[in-house]
Amino acid sequence: MVIKNANELFVRLLSETNSAEKQITRALPKMARAADDPKLVDAFKHHLDETQGQVERLEKVADSVPDIRIKRLKCYAMESLIEEGQELIEATEKGAVRDAGLIGAAQKVEHYEIATYGTLCSLAEQLGYTEAKNILAETLKEEKSTDDKLTTLAKENVNKKAG
Ligand SMILES: [Fe+2]
Ligand SMILES: [Fe+2]
Repeated sequence: MVIKNANELFVRLLSETNSAEKQITRALPKMARAADDPKLVDAFKHHLDETQGQVERLEKVADSVPDIRIKRLKCYAMESLIEEGQELIEATEKGAVRDAGLIGAAQKVEHYEIATYGTLCSLAEQLGYTEAKNILAETLKEEKSTDDKLTTLAKENVNKKAG
């Protein structure tokens, strides 16, 4: 597909993000099952709920702009990040070491999403899609707060091992 302008780039990124978020809704339950620390399990479950809302938000973003539709395509970057997380689960036993790895894998996903939603917000603004920008900014906020929460849990996990 040839991308000719910022609007087409926006649709492309929106479609990629839709694929990424859907993949994450399938990965988070597995991560919750694999985690040991109850707070980490809760964090994954809570973010699963948020992520389901984020998928719905992407539809609202598309509906808020005339003549655009989310296309079916696969986000290969997210597929690889999730596969890496899966391999980590297979390579570890339940406990603090796996939890540390899971937090790292989850933070890679959040950072990817923060970059993605940051770009989408900028493009929406540039294109004058104000409602779309506001909806995307809500998700960006959730991704950032998830990342912060994971940083806190990582610090607690390290302290637990030290103690
Ligand atoms: Fe997300
Ligand atoms: Fe996320």
